[in-house]
This record gives sequence, C-alpha cells and structure tokens, in this order.
Amino acid sequence: MSRICIVYSTTDGHTLEICPRIQQVLEHEAHWIELMAIEQASGIDWTRCDKIVIGARIRYGKHHPDVRAFIDRHLERLQQRPSAFFSVNVVARKPGKDTVAGNPYLQKFLKTILWKPTELAVFAGKIDYRRYGMVDRLMIRFIMWLTKGPTQPDACVDFTDWQAVADFAGRVARM
Ligand SMILES: Cc1cc2nc3c(=O)[nH]c(=O)nc-3n(C[C@H](O)[C@H](O)[C@H](O)COP(=O)(O)O)c2cc1C
Repeated sequence: MSRICIVYSTTDGHTLEICPRIQQVLEHEAHWIELMAIEQASGIDWTRCDKIVIGARIRYGKHHPDVRAFIDRHLERLQQRPSAFFSVNVVARKPGKDTVAGNPYLQKFLKTILWKPTELAVFAGKIDYRRYGMVDRLMIRFIMWLTKGPTQPDACVDFTDWQAVADFAGRVARM
C-alpha cells in the first residue's frame, strides 16, 4: 500500500472531477489517497506522501503559475519519489493532440521545468459556457468556432476520455 497525494489546479472544476476517478482506481488497489488543491499544497507533509500526482488545467495557453511555483519549490521532493503529471485542455479533444508527444501545451510546459515525472498524461477537458463570464465565453466561443468545436451559447460538452483517465491511474498505481 502506498500513500499517494493528488494535487490539482482547477478554475472551473473539471480537473477536480478527474481526480476522484483516479482516486477510485487507486483506492481499489488499496492505496491511501490525499487530495488537495494546489493553493493548499504549500504545507504538504512529504512524510505522508510516497508518490505524488499533479493535475492542472490550461487557460489561455498556460497552466496556472501556482503549478510551476509548486514544482520549482518542491523539485527535490518530487524527484525523490515516483511522480506523475497530467494536463487538461480542450486542444486534446483533437486526434494527435491527445498524446503526451502531440500535445503542444504539455510539451512546452515540460521544457520549462526540471522535474521529470515518472508518468505523464493529457486529457481533453470540458466546455461549459454557462459557467464563464462574458469575456471568457466570447473568447472561447470564438476559438471553438475557429477550431470547429461547440459554439451554442449554452453548450456543455465533456470531452474527457474517462477510460484514458482510468488507464493513467493504473499506471500511477504501478509506478
Ligand atoms: C477562459 C478559458 C480559456 C481556455 N483556454 C484554453 C486554451 O488556451 N487551450 C485549451 O486547449 N483549452 C483552453 N480552455 C479549456 C480548458 O482547458 C477546459 O475547459 C478545462 O476543462 C478547464 O479545466 P478546469 O475546469 O479544471 O478549470 C480554456 C477554457 C476557458 C474557460
């Protein structure tokens, strides 16, 4: 049995929705899970963390700066144990962009950090116009129009491949 910390960075909640699926798989394999928002993770107790998973959403091309700050601050601890990172973005709904090698955000991010996670994944996220403020809704609808995604003003589409999430969790269990 391992104690596994899952740290998430979310704005609209979808990255947090992905975490319980990972947690479910890991708990099924008898691991003990602690889930925490990145905003609360600065005081993480590393003695209770045999492995760590960090999940982060993309907005306007970037993960939240807190993600990079956490990685930089805890680099040594991250390198000392099995670790995993997943990125959530809607570009990953496109075939070819849904892989670690093919997702431009993940690739760019990996070049900016020294951490080398044991496991990596990218998951397509969710579009839910009802949640967004006026400017964000306009921007995202425009981007979706350009990239042939959903544009109806009240569209709510979950693009996540939940089997891929479960497969990733299985790899985390084995790492
Ligand atoms: C304001 C805004 C900006 C976004 N920018 C991007 C982007 O640049 N590239 C992308 O692939 N997805 C982008 N997305 C899609 C998000 O990555 C997707 O909605 C994800 O599920 C959000 O995760 P969260 O609910 O955990 O915050 C954006 C979404 C919003 C609302």
